[in-house]
Amino acid sequence: MKVGIIGLGYVGLPLAVAFCEAGHEVVGVDTDSRIIDALARSRSHVEDVPDELLASIAASFRATTRYADLAKVDAAIIAVPTPLTRNREPDLGPLSAAGTALAGVLQAGQLVVLQSTTYPGTTRERLVPMLEESGLAAGRDFHVAFSPERIDPGRSDYTMRTTPKIVGGLTDACLAKAVELFEIVCDQVIPVSSPESAELTKLLENVFRSVNIALVNELAVLCDRMNIDVWEVVESAATKPYGFMSFKPGPGMGGHCLPVDPFYLAWRAREFDQPTEFIELAGEVNQRMPYFCVEKITHALNEQAKPVNGSRVAIVGISYKPGVGDLRESPALRIIRLLAEHGGQLTYHDDFVPELPDFGLSSQPLEGAIEDADCVVIVTAHPGLDIERIVREAPLVVDFRGVTHGIEAPNLVRL
Ligand SMILES: NC(=O)c1ccc[n+]([C@@H]2O[C@H](COP(=O)([O-])OP(=O)(O)OC[C@H]3O[C@@H](n4cnc5c(N)ncnc54)[C@H](O)[C@@H]3O)[C@@H](O)[C@H]2O)c1
Repeated sequence: MKVGIIGLGYVGLPLAVAFCEAGHEVVGVDTDSRIIDALARSRSHVEDVPDELLASIAASFRATTRYADLAKVDAAIIAVPTPLTRNREPDLGPLSAAGTALAGVLQAGQLVVLQSTTYPGTTRERLVPMLEESGLAAGRDFHVAFSPERIDPGRSDYTMRTTPKIVGGLTDACLAKAVELFEIVCDQVIPVSSPESAELTKLLENVFRSVNIALVNELAVLCDRMNIDVWEVVESAATKPYGFMSFKPGPGMGGHCLPVDPFYLAWRAREFDQPTEFIELAGEVNQRMPYFCVEKITHALNEQAKPVNGSRVAIVGISYKPGVGDLRESPALRIIRLLAEHGGQLTYHDDFVPELPDFGLSSQPLEGAIEDADCVVIVTAHPGLDIERIVREAPLVVDFRGVTHGIEAPNLVRL
């Protein structure tokens, strides 16, 4: 089989590798020529895909900026970004560009699968009309399906193969084709009745996390007032063997999914005169967390008779989660910006993010960051971070991830 993948990022590149490893040929298309040049040299920009793996599939994987090369594929999977505009509305710009370019080369008999996270109705109402500009009819001349991606970068206990895959087709024949495609790379493919159902399944999964994280974040702010250890509360609630699922508080949500996807659903819901207050409230609570974190840092410095203005603050971990260098929507960026606005002198340590050009900063070695700081703030704890050393050597430590839970020290402040 020949598979085309449009968008070679966190989602598209591992998928390309999976099809190649299963013995199929892959043409990957990306508009970013730097990514294409690097991939041509088997250089990966995605942490979960090592260079050696790319080198091992070089004979069956070709990356290009040319959509024309998709004319010969059996199936094309679209995995382009679905971000928000500045006003927090769905930005289908990359998807429209991909759909229009694909329509220009679409052939009868091909299968097109949208895999980007989006609101229910996007596949049928937005993608299909774009593709039909080709003169071919969806469901008759070519097949269309939606299948959400459940990848969690940095996770190793569940892989693409062992994570069940949801698929919804425009017609029964579309569904059958898409199921057949994903059975190549996933052990279990779960068909649903429509693309809309598949689209909403993904949003439910992410909204579920967003709402539950907001709940513990709200509790964390309350615990701060009440002087109760929220980490202990969450941990002890998690001893209940049924009816409770543990979510951890933190400095706010980051990444491409959780801070973004609920807004896709809320936007779509407005069209149906059905406000989704719960979902929007969760987004607001989570968005407020970086502001609360800055208050907490300000208060901790104040206890040491220091103002933020002029104090040296070292942020440890600036990507949005451990083990990856993804900065998208990372709460650390907002915390850095707010502290800088208050006159703080910022440095950071993050082995996964060597440079932060927007702030004119580059990652400092941990010892240097601790040595020069009035306050060390743990925003993301990457694997192997020497927490005990930070607490031992820094004059003041503020921990927003609970990784110091169990350590008591006069210089330590926890969310
Ligand atoms: N990253 C995750 O953990 C994750 C998990 C599940 C779902 N998703 C969803 O998958 C989709 C892709 O996310 P990602 O994290 O892989 O994004 P990404 O930014 O890592 O990769 C997207 C790639 O698409 C390319 N691109 C943009 N416009 C293009 C176009 N018109 N034609 C061809 N290529 C184009 C970009 O250059 C980029 O390399 C999003 O909808 C996201 O919400 C992401």
